[in-house]
Amino acid sequence: MAVIIVIDDEHLQQEILKTILEDEGYEVHAASSAEEGLELIKTLNPDVVLTDLKMGGMTGVQLLDTIPDDIIKPAVIIMTAFGTIPSVVEAMKKGAFDYLTKPLEKDVTVIAVKKAVERMELLKENIRLKNALFEKFKMDGIIGRSKKMSEAMDIVKKVTPTMVTVLIYGESGTGKELVARAIHYNSPGKTGPFTAINCAAIPENLIESELFGYEPGAFTGATHRKIGLFESTDKGTLLLDEIGDLPFLTQTKILRVLQDKEIRRLGGKDSIKVNVRIIAATNKRLEKEVSAGKFREDLYYRLKVVTVELPPLRERKEDVPLFVSFFIDKYNQEFGKRVKGASEGAIKAFMDYHWPGNIRQFESVIERAVLMCDTDIVNLNDIRGELHLPASETAITDMQIPEKGINFEELEKELIKKAMLKANNVAAKAARLLGMSYKTFWYRLEKFGIQTDSSKEDSPP
Ligand SMILES: Nc1ncnc2c1ncn2[C@@H]1O[C@H](COP(=O)(O)OP(=O)(O)OP(=O)(O)O)[C@@H](O)[C@H]1O
Ligand SMILES: [Mg+2]
Repeated sequence: MAVIIVIDDEHLQQEILKTILEDEGYEVHAASSAEEGLELIKTLNPDVVLTDLKMGGMTGVQLLDTIPDDIIKPAVIIMTAFGTIPSVVEAMKKGAFDYLTKPLEKDVTVIAVKKAVERMELLKENIRLKNALFEKFKMDGIIGRSKKMSEAMDIVKKVTPTMVTVLIYGESGTGKELVARAIHYNSPGKTGPFTAINCAAIPENLIESELFGYEPGAFTGATHRKIGLFESTDKGTLLLDEIGDLPFLTQTKILRVLQDKEIRRLGGKDSIKVNVRIIAATNKRLEKEVSAGKFREDLYYRLKVVTVELPPLRERKEDVPLFVSFFIDKYNQEFGKRVKGASEGAIKAFMDYHWPGNIRQFESVIERAVLMCDTDIVNLNDIRGELHLPASETAITDMQIPEKGINFEELEKELIKKAMLKANNVAAKAARLLGMSYKTFWYRLEKFGIQTDSSKEDSPP
């Protein structure tokens, strides 16, 4: 329920407003002076304040100035007697939401309050969303304690409090965008916009209009003005993703923006100041692109001043267990599951795998495993398909030893029989399947009295 404070030195006026607004379903508190009202504002954190302009003591306009900054500022509606326009203008300049002239009309008052409440709901929603973003992209949401990742994060943490340009290098799925967002949402410009443009995905002829915008008539089909990303990201962060794929001519223009901090819309005459932090990301080695004549050397030098190099997962295997629990937690929550962890066999398989799609691939493997998992542990069976593991590997690593124990000889015999079956009774082949020498294998065949297809075999030398 929205909370409203009514401030008026006339008791009757307080009572009338209270009745009207309580009828509308609001929680209403009254104060007889701005000073008293301010105390209520501090303790109740109201959505809307309706205040008289002239009272004994502080005026309604002065009250606007004294509301502390550490609360979400309520929408203030000034009530004023007819003929005090200059004060109203001053109040509106100081951030009052609206004004009402006395004597108050019921309907007009109710509508003004309703609008103010709606505005506050939007504002609070906005703050909630922003906070969720800050939470989502906090630095410790970036997993990794390996040496290479720690080195990368050391650099990230150093540049975050500045507005310096950053170049992020990393193979696909190593977390380039995640790091770019974390930099933004922890930087001085964090309340500004974050936008990303994938230079590889946008056709060459469109990329400049996306970035710089255009004026009507700039080219055939440009019927209206378009604001580009540099302008709409003012006071925020623009991620130029896959910058290695930026057309050569556009590179020149980007260099100019970095140097002069201004842009010109296509077909426009004036330069427009922009204050945008640039983060560039690439999975191409830009120095190679420079040697190949595809990337401007001057832009490369300009960008590479601060380079963050995100290691591929295969070069930071020690982080694998961290990712396992991080993503299992995440998808437990998402799917309402209670998976506790991964089997030793599964972890070993994760360690051995080369992860061409890096963390993105890892995440989707765990996502699927958590979803599919029938027990409280992710087993090799849950991930085998994903990692293209041969079945035999799965069988052995995941094998459970039952409570009553096992008879090792029986097990050995079973395995040998199975290997023979799989090898079409060719002992040499079966031996290979079990990683045994032919001689050892043959000895066991004899011991267990297992028949071989003698037409295909010689006895061991
Ligand atoms: N260190 C990390 N900790 C937690 N999650 C991560 C980490 N690195 C990447 N991820 C997650 O992996 C997924 C892929 O990351 P991201 O999109 O940032 O990669 P990318 O390098 O931009 O990939 P691409 O080059 O394919 O665009 C995202 O869901 C991201 O949240
Ligand atoms: Mg990306």
